[in-house]
Amino acid sequence: MFFFGKKKLRRVQPGKSRVVSQTEDQAATREWFTYILVGILFSLIIISTLGFGYLRSAEHILSVTIVSTLAVFLMIFALWILHPKLFSSPIKLFFFGVISVSLVALVEVFLRFGWPLYLLPVVLTSMIITIGYSQQLAVINLFFQIFVIWLLIDDKHFAKVIIHFPAAMLVILGLTELRTRSKLIRLGALAGVVTLLMVLMKIVFLDVGLQEFFNNIRVQPFENSWTKKLILSFINGLVSGFIVLGVLPFIEKWFGVLTDLSLLELTDMNQPLLRKLYLEAPGTYHHSLRVGNLAEAAARAIRANSLLVRVGAYFHDIGKLNKPEYFVENEVEANSKHKNLSPMMSTLVITAHVKDGLEFAKYHRLPSRIFDFVEQHHGNSVVKYFYHEAKEKNNHNDNEDRVAPESFRYSGPKPQTKETAIVLLADSVEAASRALSSVTPAKLKGLVHDIIMSKLLDGQLDQSNITMSELKTIENTFTRGLAGVFHARIKYPEENGQAETNHKKSKSESA
Ligand SMILES: [Fe+2]
Ligand SMILES: [Fe+2]
Repeated sequence: MFFFGKKKLRRVQPGKSRVVSQTEDQAATREWFTYILVGILFSLIIISTLGFGYLRSAEHILSVTIVSTLAVFLMIFALWILHPKLFSSPIKLFFFGVISVSLVALVEVFLRFGWPLYLLPVVLTSMIITIGYSQQLAVINLFFQIFVIWLLIDDKHFAKVIIHFPAAMLVILGLTELRTRSKLIRLGALAGVVTLLMVLMKIVFLDVGLQEFFNNIRVQPFENSWTKKLILSFINGLVSGFIVLGVLPFIEKWFGVLTDLSLLELTDMNQPLLRKLYLEAPGTYHHSLRVGNLAEAAARAIRANSLLVRVGAYFHDIGKLNKPEYFVENEVEANSKHKNLSPMMSTLVITAHVKDGLEFAKYHRLPSRIFDFVEQHHGNSVVKYFYHEAKEKNNHNDNEDRVAPESFRYSGPKPQTKETAIVLLADSVEAASRALSSVTPAKLKGLVHDIIMSKLLDGQLDQSNITMSELKTIENTFTRGLAGVFHARIKYPEENGQAETNHKKSKSESA
């Protein structure tokens, strides 16, 4: 067993360090431009918001402007530390600023037109930012909004704004996973109830007192302003859930996000591309399902995006639809299609399924995050079966020319995320497991370990940011998963004598 520590798997490529550092410098400069640009933009919007006239004196305007501008930069700094990816997309950053500041501006509008602040869409904006960005960003945004609003308005009105805070936190934390549409409605209703309770507490403890409240409610249950406030605050939460449900497709499109709901739609076996795979390449279809099961469990074990991994696994081999019969899992006849092809030509046919897959994914308008799985699921691995066949033929013909493994490699790129790395590993493990002649627990464990080690040593996991301890977890999860799949076939040492530990590699692994 190899040693698993916490160390990240990164490898510096010799000769490329200068180019990389120049690119990094340019990226850093672009990032700083983005910070400054967005900072100024945020500040301008806030300052223009202040201009609506709620502020009375020049000193007040100046002090609030300085503090709110500082708050903007503080938020940008927090985003930079906690969510650096956001800065690679200025448009997303801009939208974030617009949503964030528009709520602050809305407070001004509500006050100007005398609309009840119980209807302020704090829950709505929190939901949109959580789905469009992340929970972390939604929390940062919520604190920022509350702070700036606190600067802008007096305490009496601020109390009507702060009552939205618990409900907003509730929806942010509740949107960890969005796997059903009804969850949005349930969360909205729950947020409505929480806001209603907060309004009730404000009325009872801050405004009138418990005794007076009950006396009035008993005499005129529906004809006082409190009942209206309570109903409005509940409706606010509930309606937020419905609005988000309605605009969810637009949120996904504008923000370029892939929600769990859309991912779940892609797991539907009636999805046209999956149906096509089932009808035209049934072996690949079943292989993809098994890879999906193995990879999803591993992703869950290391807290990666398990649903994304499942969907990525379902579509990773769609490129095989072009020539399904050239892949071992779809072979129906004893005669392989590769029989009359040179190893080099076979390699070209096999490796083309990555490029073809990308074309299929684009044509069928799959989300761009699925492209990564199609593109990276082999990294730049060697197609071992045909590489060894070429070497054997070379030796047999007494040919002096060396067979270069580079000619038998996929074109890459290597997995760039933990999710794509898991699919690369699950793909190889699943393919190799099919070739096991007799199955024992030790054999399965050895197979999984050997494959992970070979991919690790070949540098396929270098750019995926995966840690050694996560690899250990993935190895254990794969072994357990395979044991479940082969349960009926497993021969335990008691009944089988000495368990075999060697396993035969097949050409399946290379596809
Ligand atoms: Fe593949
Ligand atoms: Fe595959």
